[in-house]
Amino acid sequence: MKTLGKILIIHGPNLHLLGKREPEIYGNFTLDQIDQELKLRASRESIEIETFQSNSEGDIVEKITTTGYNLLIINPAAYTHTSVAIRDAILGVNKPTLEVHLSNIYKREDFRKKSLISDIVIGTIAGFGKESYFLAFSAAMTLLESKSSETK
Ligand code: DQA
Repeated sequence: MKTLGKILIIHGPNLHLLGKREPEIYGNFTLDQIDQELKLRASRESIEIETFQSNSEGDIVEKITTTGYNLLIINPAAYTHTSVAIRDAILGVNKPTLEVHLSNIYKREDFRKKSLISDIVIGTIAGFGKESYFLAFSAAMTLLESKSSETK
């Protein structure tokens, strides 16, 4: 049944605070609610997903580089704007990657307008709140389905 493989979903620092953290920017829902919805959607498709949140750059690098998966969806949160290590990990494993942000980083403070991964990912979805993750999941399914039909 698990014909399309596995999607790894990584949430960076402070995203464990969703629901309490600046709700006017990030919304009132919790990270667990997002993860549960992603798992529900995955269970309806032939795809396995693993979700992971960490506040530590090293743990995120470790996760990207040591887990087996077919596609990565990542919201590096504040590390988006600072982490050469996460960029290098994504380049190192060379797996299709989608970048996600709850807020539209391009209409916020100047320091948020620069993402260190935008130029190495397939695409970026930003500004749709929790829907950004669901749009990314849907894009991921389309990509994996087209890859799998290429190999048939
Ligand atoms: C964020 C945007 C980042 O600038 C910020 O540091 C975050 C969350 C977002 O999802 O909108 O923690 O990645």
